[in-house]
Amino acid sequence: MRLSVLLLGVGLFASPASAQVVAPSDPADYPAAPGREEAVAFCGACHSFRLVAAQGLTRLQWDETMKWMVQRHNMPELHPQDHDIILDYLERAFPPKASGGRPGWTNPFAPHQ
Ligand code: HEC
Repeated sequence: MRLSVLLLGVGLFASPASAQVVAPSDPADYPAAPGREEAVAFCGACHSFRLVAAQGLTRLQWDETMKWMVQRHNMPELHPQDHDIILDYLERAFPPKASGGRPGWTNPFAPHQ
């Protein structure tokens, strides 16, 4: 009895693909676009990816955010290629919310929440 409870506990926490992830974020919860898996896995490692998805920023601002994560929050610096994959995704999936001041315009990539 005790053993099975223990095994169940281990099963719940052992995630082979992402053993280091603190609060697992599911890529399926976010807009589908190239780089989604990479962005959710990487940016969701220290905090929930929801924190990221709640923002709507320009490419420049996303770039600044990534620099800020490295400088202030000890995020490991990415290889330029990976950096671009994630930046492309962030720009595409989470652009500024008030886009061009068009009332009633909904971002097709916006998360449903
Ligand atoms: C090494 C850990 C780490 C990684 C990796 C990381 N962050 Fe963060 N991030 C933090 C910490 C620490 C905070 C501030 C504490 C908090 O709000 O949880 C934070 C906060 C944020 C915020 C909230 C800022 C605000 O105004 O509230 C955003 C947006 C953000 N991160 C974006 C990103 C993006 C985008 C990535 C991936 C490129 C990323 N983070 C990867 C550690 C990290």
